[in-house]
Amino acid sequence: MTALLDELKGIVGPKGWTTDASDMEGRLNEWRGVYEGRTSILVQPKTTDEVAAVLRACSAAGVPVVPQGGNTGMCGAAVPDASGEQVLLSLGRMNRILEVDVSNFSMVVEAGCVLANAQEAARKVGRYFPLSLGAEGTCQVGGNIATNAGGINVGRYGTARALVLGLEVVLADGTVLDTLRSLRKDTAGYDVKQLFIGSEGTLGIITAASVRLFPDPGERSTALLGMESAGVAVDILGNLRRQLDNRIESFELVPDYVIDMVARNVPDASLPLATTCPWYVLVETSTGSEPERLEAALLRETEEGRLLDAIIAKNEAEAESFWRLRHSIAEAERQDGRSLKHDISVPLSKMQEFLLRGDELLASLRPDLKLVAFGHVGDGNLHYNVVLPRDLPDDEWHSEGERITHALYDLVASLGGSFSAEHGVGQAKRKYLAEYRAGPEFELMKMLKKTLDPANILNPGKVF
Ligand code: FAD
Ligand code: MLT
Ligand code: ZN
Repeated sequence: MTALLDELKGIVGPKGWTTDASDMEGRLNEWRGVYEGRTSILVQPKTTDEVAAVLRACSAAGVPVVPQGGNTGMCGAAVPDASGEQVLLSLGRMNRILEVDVSNFSMVVEAGCVLANAQEAARKVGRYFPLSLGAEGTCQVGGNIATNAGGINVGRYGTARALVLGLEVVLADGTVLDTLRSLRKDTAGYDVKQLFIGSEGTLGIITAASVRLFPDPGERSTALLGMESAGVAVDILGNLRRQLDNRIESFELVPDYVIDMVARNVPDASLPLATTCPWYVLVETSTGSEPERLEAALLRETEEGRLLDAIIAKNEAEAESFWRLRHSIAEAERQDGRSLKHDISVPLSKMQEFLLRGDELLASLRPDLKLVAFGHVGDGNLHYNVVLPRDLPDDEWHSEGERITHALYDLVASLGGSFSAEHGVGQAKRKYLAEYRAGPEFELMKMLKKTLDPANILNPGKVF
């Protein structure tokens, strides 16, 4: 190991490595604090060639490498294991915007570019990079692609996968795979870049990406819609899509009890609402110069009894306060204590059934549970989290957690859904991947892993 460490230090130079625990603050713990690891060295290469040389050296020594972006992931995928024998490779110093092609509506960035900086680079030239999530000030474009991140604009623009035009990836043996083309149409053989999107650092290290840009959607209208039940949200979404020519940018579920949870835990993120409804949806539309169209559509929903209340943001500051609340949910939940996180999706046509049967299932499993459900209902994706009684002993918390999660994932599977809609598998959901994707699909995944990383040095212990 000492010889390898010396070799790595030589590759990345004095600014590109540390073995000092205090410099690794925030890098060895997963964001939720559920997983903690150790490492003998953190390397921070500055170029693709350095990443390639690091992988060549680690490959020759048979030492595993854990790629890390902003470390905002939620399933323990970006932290090393407890052995101290895995090299932690941060992309943070590879953070340049390499090219913004205004007329091609595309941009090439290094993998370590912070998402908010990529958004800003597009904005500066009148273009729009739509990937947006609560962690955007910290997470990196490479991490977003490696997790196939979702966020709040998926209904209109798709997940990270839909935004990628090309990738540069370093393979396990140090080979640099260059698919960094900025084309919307390309049928030359297999689309190999797709393999690395959502692969959570287990098939290659993404060093740069070409991503799609869009015209600036212009003025937006933001509203909080109050309703009696979450199930109504799907009907309202269908109606608004039709009436507003599908110009719905975001459609996020925020229940009343989640608004309270944010108010309790995150200063400056609460909303002083005059009336309260059991469920809200935060909707954003790009109705441009015709915000009255949203008003008219909401009036119809109210007259027809689906909406109890609707508050349209009067100005940008008010719209921002709605979004601050939405983006603070994950932090508020973290402050509130541990919960069972279920990041699930079902076809939109099954969402109402899922909500009804999910409630019944939880009540039948344990009447003393608390549900914390929120999120991207417009995409068929909910963070359907469950809080167990605080005073449960640790081992009971885990066994009960397991029982509840399993029953819930069975329900999701029976509705044609996924147990992992946007956060990935990491360490947390490995056994569920093996179970719910068992058969040819899982076998093919293992075959791909074996082919691309025969010595299992890329982020071992994650996904599989
Ligand atoms: P990391 O956490 O550092 O890494 C995640 C995985 O990608 C790991 O497996 C790591 O090994 C791998 N990886 C990182 N960089 C590379 C690379 N260059 N090459 C290969 N592999 C790499 N997620 C959503 O999808 N939607 C949301 O709405 C959302 N909201 C969030 C809100 C908050 C407040 C927080 C804290 C997180 C949220 N997340 C959300 C989860 C997280 O932000 C995303 O998964 C994000 O895409 C992770 O990016 P990262 O750079 O932090 O990656
Ligand atoms: C969100 O949508 O806020 C996130 O994905 C975070 C979470 O699941 O807590
Ligand atoms: Zn989410």
